[in-house]
Amino acid sequence: METYKELLEGNLRWLGDVKKADPSFFEKLAQGQSPRFLWIGCSDSRVPATEITGSMPGSIFVHRNIANLVIHSDVNLLSVIYYAVEYLKVRHIIVCGHSSCGGIEAAMSENTFGFLDNWLNHIKDVYRYHKEELDKITDPLQRSDAMAMVNVRQQVYNLSKVSFIRQKWANGEFPALHGWFYQIRDGMLKDLNVTVNSVDKSEELSLIE
Ligand code: CO
Repeated sequence: METYKELLEGNLRWLGDVKKADPSFFEKLAQGQSPRFLWIGCSDSRVPATEITGSMPGSIFVHRNIANLVIHSDVNLLSVIYYAVEYLKVRHIIVCGHSSCGGIEAAMSENTFGFLDNWLNHIKDVYRYHKEELDKITDPLQRSDAMAMVNVRQQVYNLSKVSFIRQKWANGEFPALHGWFYQIRDGMLKDLNVTVNSVDKSEELSLIE
């Protein structure tokens, strides 16, 4: 059997299980989505937003890229955030990094990765800002995890600079921005306590070292 066909078979098994638990699940889902959360995560196959949060389709609006970056000129990302905030009215945006992140490890290495370096340069900037504290960590796994967490904090900060999010705050509205870290080794999600829901909070975050 062609390997890709296992995905189609898996789909049939999965929809059968879902219907068994809730016969009208897909009918309800077909009427529209009203997710309460936007997830900005890494493309890594080990960190799927719905599964690791025990959620079902319909609950989380998702954008993923290598190393969960928030880059202010990324029209794809900005469109997703704008739609989530202005139309879906999500109240919480979660930036989620993870352990053993290939993007983070590549950016911390001295190696070159061809075309990918264009993307990795954004992470290299974050590394450079925090190189002194990170290079004190001798264990390479711990160092890359620490860098992934620093990166989350930086991306939450970048998110807090997005114009239409600031406009929402000026009107006394949501969203709140959160930074989380997923430890692949034990499956645990951790809140990094870098929540931002105002311009003041954003400035506080920028001062954390
Ligand atoms: Co990753």
